[in-house]
Amino acid sequence: MNARSSTTTLSHLLLHGVSRPQTGALPRLFSRAISQKTYTLNNGTKLPAIGFGTFQDKEQQEGAVYAALNAGFRHIDTAKVYDTEEFIGRAIRKAGVPRNELFLTTKLWCNDFHPDDVEPALDETLSKLRTEYIDLFLMHYPCTFKRGSERFPKGEDGIMQMGETTYVDTWRAMEKLVQKGKAKAIGVSNFSKGEVINLFDHGSIVPAVHQMELHPYLQQKSFVEWQKSKGIHMMHFSPLANQNNFYRDIYWATGKANTTHLIDEPILKEIGDKHGKSPAQVALAWGLANGRSVIPKSVVDWQIKQNLESDFPLDEEDMEKIGSLDKGLRFNDPSSAYNWKLYSDLEGAWSK
Ligand SMILES: NC(=O)c1ccc[n+]([C@@H]2O[C@H](COP(=O)([O-])OP(=O)(O)OC[C@H]3O[C@@H](n4cnc5c(N)ncnc54)[C@H](OP(=O)(O)O)[C@@H]3O)[C@@H](O)[C@H]2O)c1
Repeated sequence: MNARSSTTTLSHLLLHGVSRPQTGALPRLFSRAISQKTYTLNNGTKLPAIGFGTFQDKEQQEGAVYAALNAGFRHIDTAKVYDTEEFIGRAIRKAGVPRNELFLTTKLWCNDFHPDDVEPALDETLSKLRTEYIDLFLMHYPCTFKRGSERFPKGEDGIMQMGETTYVDTWRAMEKLVQKGKAKAIGVSNFSKGEVINLFDHGSIVPAVHQMELHPYLQQKSFVEWQKSKGIHMMHFSPLANQNNFYRDIYWATGKANTTHLIDEPILKEIGDKHGKSPAQVALAWGLANGRSVIPKSVVDWQIKQNLESDFPLDEEDMEKIGSLDKGLRFNDPSSAYNWKLYSDLEGAWSK
């Protein structure tokens, strides 16, 4: 089944004035009209097309998520390894957005991949987020690290120590959480095509979402078409590409990010000028035009608002021009640090 898109009509959520807060929460004030496209995932649930990323700047995330919720974001993306779940839980409570209006995504980290550790890890996350269920639970990477409390369990030789179980065992444990209702949908992140096929062969649930690096510099056309045909919705992480300075600074980076920032590309500027939008908004609109969701991160108020206003149509000519920006440039590739050949059959892999 393919993910379907819809734009809410009356369901353009018009939130005005003061709405009823959850117990103990502050009243919430909304004065802006919120218009949000959604996609229907292969489990039937609706995912807002534009979500909010929370990787980095953890001490600023409570304020940023609060601002994002007030601006109208209804999908928040986090992960155990970001250490932002607790801040997000607080921001949601403060904003008083009812749980059933929110879509929350989190990710299982690689030292919790032993099947017996999966449910306790999610329970800890749910408690930090102050919720009884997660809308989307993702396996953060396909590599299994040594079981235990260390998130990056390296040996004395500096090499990552791997676990004894595989991501297929982890997937089956995640499937049980869907049956229990603790996760509405499950999916993957940073998987290769071969690894997705392995889940098809040995699991019983088709991943609802693949959260993967996608932006005009890394378009992965054949892989995205194949996943779409299998009913897997794709969510762009780092949708602004090398705008995130992390990719310039991190020790495993290959220097690939030290080139022109995507949002400084003259083609995006020219298209943006035509539509009265910024280059960043064009990069996000390109994801939506392809039927995929995006999760830009920002801690700056005007950028947060601007990112939510990125649902506008691009012309065929715009799409062709953006298509020409594809360089197979993958910025997020910690293969050497994680002791695992990530993206091995995909574009822009470390070995290519
Ligand atoms: N699954 C995974 O392995 C994985 C990997 C990476 C990311 N993610 C998820 O994807 C989210 C987004 O990716 P990302 O954080 O790497 O990068 P991103 O959202 O593509 O870019 C973030 C950078 O762009 C800036 N920015 C945001 N909006 C802007 C705008 N309108 N104009 C100009 N600059 C703007 C931000 O600045 P400020 O921060 O200064 O506001 C920040 O420096 C993450 O936060 C995380 O939730 C997942």
